[in-house]
Amino acid sequence: MEDIEFTYLKQGPARWTFEMPFLRKWVEEHSHGKVLNLFAGKVRLNVDEYRVDMSSEYKPDLTMEAEMALRKFIKEGRFFDTVILDPPYSMRMAREKYQGRYYIGKFAKILNLVPRVLNKNGIVITLGYKTGEMSASRGFAVRAICIVHQGGGHDDIIGCQEISMISDYYLNGTSSRWVNHEDIGNFEVDE
Ligand SMILES: C[S@@+](CC[C@H](N)C(=O)[O-])C[C@H]1O[C@@H](n2cnc3c(N)ncnc32)[C@H](O)[C@@H]1O
Repeated sequence: MEDIEFTYLKQGPARWTFEMPFLRKWVEEHSHGKVLNLFAGKVRLNVDEYRVDMSSEYKPDLTMEAEMALRKFIKEGRFFDTVILDPPYSMRMAREKYQGRYYIGKFAKILNLVPRVLNKNGIVITLGYKTGEMSASRGFAVRAICIVHQGGGHDDIIGCQEISMISDYYLNGTSSRWVNHEDIGNFEVDE
């Protein structure tokens, strides 16, 4: 089994996720290279970030819906080293039930597109209530988990760093082969 780094933080709640300084620092320290912050919101990170948000209120680099932005980057052949995903609560449901049957939810569609904008040593950081959102089915392994205890009646927040299983980080520098993420797993991407 791979080693997973655990961090436990105590930090009172804030309006914006990255207004929690310890959590923001953890995210910055677990990012590398060119960072795509796909649900950027208000708080700027101390990394080389490209900020996308469907709202123009906090002046992102690109005002666009997340799935549309990913499709644009794929079309342009644009790649990043880290993707940060801090979606609104309503989007965190990966599977939704419709007339008794499950269909793929909005956030899952976004997760499916993310590997296609990642460079070889790609990292994905999710903020939410789950670990392993990218999962082995998309070719990723959990490398670090940060649990934030907010106290009071608030749920904990989980930060999760997943790394590509074809990256040098995962393979301990034993391989420099390039494998197309699209060849890994069997997941739905509708064009
Ligand atoms: C949870 S907040 C992110 C907060 C940010 N990490 C921070 O701490 O400042 C979610 C952000 O996602 C944006 N958003 C919601 N749905 C979106 C979508 N489908 N595509 C792009 N941005 C979206 C909202 O406008 C909001 O700014």
